[in-house]
Amino acid sequence: MYYFIATYGCQMNVHESEKIAGVLEELGYCACTRAIDADIVVFNTCAIRESAETKILGNIGALKPIKAIKKDLIIVLCGCMTQQEGMSASIHKKFPFVDIIIGTHNLASLKDFIIQRQNEKKFITETLNSCDIAGRDNMKVTRTSGYNAWVNIMYGCNNFCSYCIVPYVRGREVSRPIDDIINEIKDLLKQGYCQITLLGQNVNSYGNDLGGLVNFAMLLRKIDEISGKFRIRFMTSHPKDLSSEVIDVIASSSKICHYIHLPVQSGSNKILELMNRKYTREKYLKTITEIKSKIPDVQFSSDIIVGFPTETEEDFNDTLRLIEEVKYEQLFVFMYSKRKGTIAEKMDGQVELAEKKRRISVLLEKQNQIATGISESYIGTILEVLVDDVSPKNDKILLGSTFAGKTISFYGDKRLVGKFIYVKIIKAKHTTLFGEIVEE
Ligand code: 5AD
Ligand code: SF4
Repeated sequence: MYYFIATYGCQMNVHESEKIAGVLEELGYCACTRAIDADIVVFNTCAIRESAETKILGNIGALKPIKAIKKDLIIVLCGCMTQQEGMSASIHKKFPFVDIIIGTHNLASLKDFIIQRQNEKKFITETLNSCDIAGRDNMKVTRTSGYNAWVNIMYGCNNFCSYCIVPYVRGREVSRPIDDIINEIKDLLKQGYCQITLLGQNVNSYGNDLGGLVNFAMLLRKIDEISGKFRIRFMTSHPKDLSSEVIDVIASSSKICHYIHLPVQSGSNKILELMNRKYTREKYLKTITEIKSKIPDVQFSSDIIVGFPTETEEDFNDTLRLIEEVKYEQLFVFMYSKRKGTIAEKMDGQVELAEKKRRISVLLEKQNQIATGISESYIGTILEVLVDDVSPKNDKILLGSTFAGKTISFYGDKRLVGKFIYVKIIKAKHTTLFGEIVEE
């Protein structure tokens, strides 16, 4: 019996799919790479933008002819899209061949639902509004991420940025107990993982719901104290909550990577206020300056939304000026997408699609120049690299990452995957560096 999981959206979903794979393997299924070969197909969905939902709905539709031939195929939908109010009923109506629809808080019951469906051919759906995190944390995980292990430190979001659906589909912030996180990481290191990526919608508010006894800086310090050679990464940071204490811990650690994803969303104070981001451009830039002064080799990445309601050319130019000032290594740029139930849904001043597209291409063009400049500045240097993988295009080429999160490719033997080596940078193109091994 085979399973196929299609994962849409963020790293949180990628890791949740590892938990889903754990459930399916406990039930005796093995992984396969095509829906057509599978006995159970799971779509772990995303709702962040309309484009994600349109793509998923199209892909669900494409399962219909497969189900027509394979009557016993079980189709499961879960994740952020299905958690939205009324979504399960509307999908069931449109795609009656889907067997199980659950939301973001029902993962721990997935195993029981599948067994129930195997015994009785009846549609099953449940979208609870909250759950006991212990159930989700104790699920077996089938990791698929090579030498990097994802570790949830918290779930949910309390911020209600006016454009964002996440607080509605993921619920309020719940932090995992610090000892559970530390024990999970120690266990992963024993298994040989050499990079730990901490996951949360807003990692900087870790511990706020634990009575003020712990915070993100303390958690980072405790992880940093674990012996052994490994790297620590985290995502995502909200600029309003990134404290000097956290910056100091990163600066003094030899394990916490000098790479910070710090989504700014917009460079205009008017738009930031309408987005309910709770910081100004000046406050954001002050945080960036503090980080650069304490961690000179730091690299940043960011998310930007173009075409938020009422965004004028002047607001957009503020964003352009901000990216020139910060000099991000990487930018993820999105067109604003109206989401049902969010505050921005009701805002006037929608920006035309063609204008959003134009702003995206202007931003990406500028970002290209910035990223190329950053990459070129590395030529001639020798850096420690963690070998991540073999290139999918050529098995003699390896892919790795530097301590500041730069991607690098170089010729080498695949037995080096998962090892730390030294590489001399000889060439640069956009965000990727090319190098040669100087020391294994
Ligand atoms: N439209 C466009 N982009 C969005 N994001 C979140 N909600 C929306 C939306 N409604 C972007 C933000 C966030 C990233 C994960 O997705 O930039 O940081
Ligand atoms: Fe969405 Fe804002 Fe929460 Fe991020 S911090 S998940 S953008 S509401």
